[in-house]
Parts: sequence; structure tokens; C-alpha cells
Amino acid sequence: MGPVDPPWNPKVVPGDFAKRAEPGTAPAFRDRLVLERIRRHIGSGMSLLEVACGPALLKDEFGDRFETVAGVDLTLDLTAHRRRNGVATIGLTGSDELPYASGTFDAVVCRLSLRHLADPAVLVGEAARVLRPGGVAVVVDIVTSDDPEAAALHNALESLRDPRHVRALTESAILALVNDAGLRIETTERWTQTVRFEDWAETSELSEPLQVIMRKLALLGVDTGMHLRIEEGALMLDQPWLLVAADRPAIA
Ligand SMILES: C[S@@+](CC[C@H](N)C(=O)[O-])C[C@H]1O[C@@H](n2cnc3c(N)ncnc32)[C@H](O)[C@@H]1O
Repeated sequence: MGPVDPPWNPKVVPGDFAKRAEPGTAPAFRDRLVLERIRRHIGSGMSLLEVACGPALLKDEFGDRFETVAGVDLTLDLTAHRRRNGVATIGLTGSDELPYASGTFDAVVCRLSLRHLADPAVLVGEAARVLRPGGVAVVVDIVTSDDPEAAALHNALESLRDPRHVRALTESAILALVNDAGLRIETTERWTQTVRFEDWAETSELSEPLQVIMRKLALLGVDTGMHLRIEEGALMLDQPWLLVAADRPAIA
């Protein structure tokens, strides 16, 4: 049998995200390096939109650079934090549209969300539509290996860690999504974030069996797309990140 082709967990529903609707503490969300990379590209202006914004942490981070910062998310359960940050509830599936006119925003950010979407093209397409000509879209996410076997293993492990994980995409798949949405890619940046297993699996109900499996994979040197290894007794992994900054070309 060849590698299993995700999507894993295609039945993610809004309530699944509500449990962790308050600002996340996981390293991926608070990583200053990631925030700085986004900051360099979005500039400043009148209006910023974060799509699939969760608790709208980016509003806390970039609220001082834009007149308005809007957020939309699938999750129906608005916590106090979300209400404060003015998150609008909207799930993007199929033919849904964001509740904004075309060309509304100076900048649109999509962080750590593509991998939770059964149809990420809808989200990226809508992000591109509501961006003004000349505006900047920034997509930031974990990426997976170009090797299908390693990608399948990577996605399986992510899915066990977080049942809401659908599919981490390869770099080329993300670039294709951005291109197909009519955006012009200006920059791509790749880097890895080294994380201790305990931080990566922080909120997982399966962290103990996952650690047993992943230690064994590390000892066997199996390619999981995350470079699993044991350093001074601690299980470590490298999360591969990609940032794509693109603009919406002016209509000729
Ligand atoms: C891991 S969180 C990322 C939150 C935020 N972008 C950040 O980086 O802090 C993923 C978010 O995607 C949202 N989401 C999942 N599927 C969605 C959909 N179809 N439409 C809109 N939002 C969706 C979830 O509700 C969740 O808040």
C-alpha cells in the first residue's frame, strides 16, 4: 500500500475549535520571529483583515498600524476575547463569500489556518477578492515534505496531535493556491522552528502514546518531514514554516 493521501479528519466542525478559542500559548502562535516576518510584509494602512483568525491575536499585535483590523472565523462560539477583538463569525466552505466588497482591505493575513481547511482554495480566493489592487496578502503556515511518504506520516502525526488538523500542504501546493487566486507572489520565505515534543503536543489528549511512537521513529531515523531526534534525552522536532507575501495586481 502506498502512502495514505489525506485529508485527514474531513469532518471538522465549528465547535471543535471553540475549546481553544482563547489566545493560544503554543509556541507557533506567540513566536516573535513569525510575527516579525508578517510585520515586515503587511506594512501599515487603513485596514487589515485576518481570515480564519481564531482569537484574533494578530489584532493585538498589529492593531496600532491599521485604522481597522477585522477578523473572520468559522467558530461560532465567541469568547470574551473574540468579542473584544470584533471577530465576525463566518465559515468558508463551498461557494461562501466573505461579507466584504471586493477590494476592501489594504492587507489580508492567513496564519496557521490552511491546514485546517478541507478546501483552502475557497479561503485564499476570498482573501484575494477582498484585497484592494496593490494590497498585500500574507499566508503563513506549516508546510509538509515533497516526499509523499514523509508527508503522509507528517499529516498522520499532526492529525493525532490535533483532531482538527486536515492536511498540511507542500510549498508548491500553497504557491499554486496563491497564484490561482490571481495574486502575484513577491516573496517566499522558508524556515524551521525547533520545538520540544512537550510544547508541540501541549494540548493533545494523545501526547503519551504519540511520544512513544515518535521516539521510536526518531531512533529509527524515519523521515516524517519534521526531523525527529533525541537531544539529551528530549524528543525534538523541526516544524517547517512557509511565508508567502503576494500582491493583488492593479486591473489593467
Ligand atoms: C489554528 S487556528 C489559527 C487562528 C489564527 N489564524 C492565528 O494564527 O492565531 C485555525 C482557525 O481556522 C478556523 N477555521 C477552520 N475552518 C474554517 C473555515 N472553513 N472558515 C473559516 N475559518 C475556519 C478555526 O475556527 C480556527 O480558529
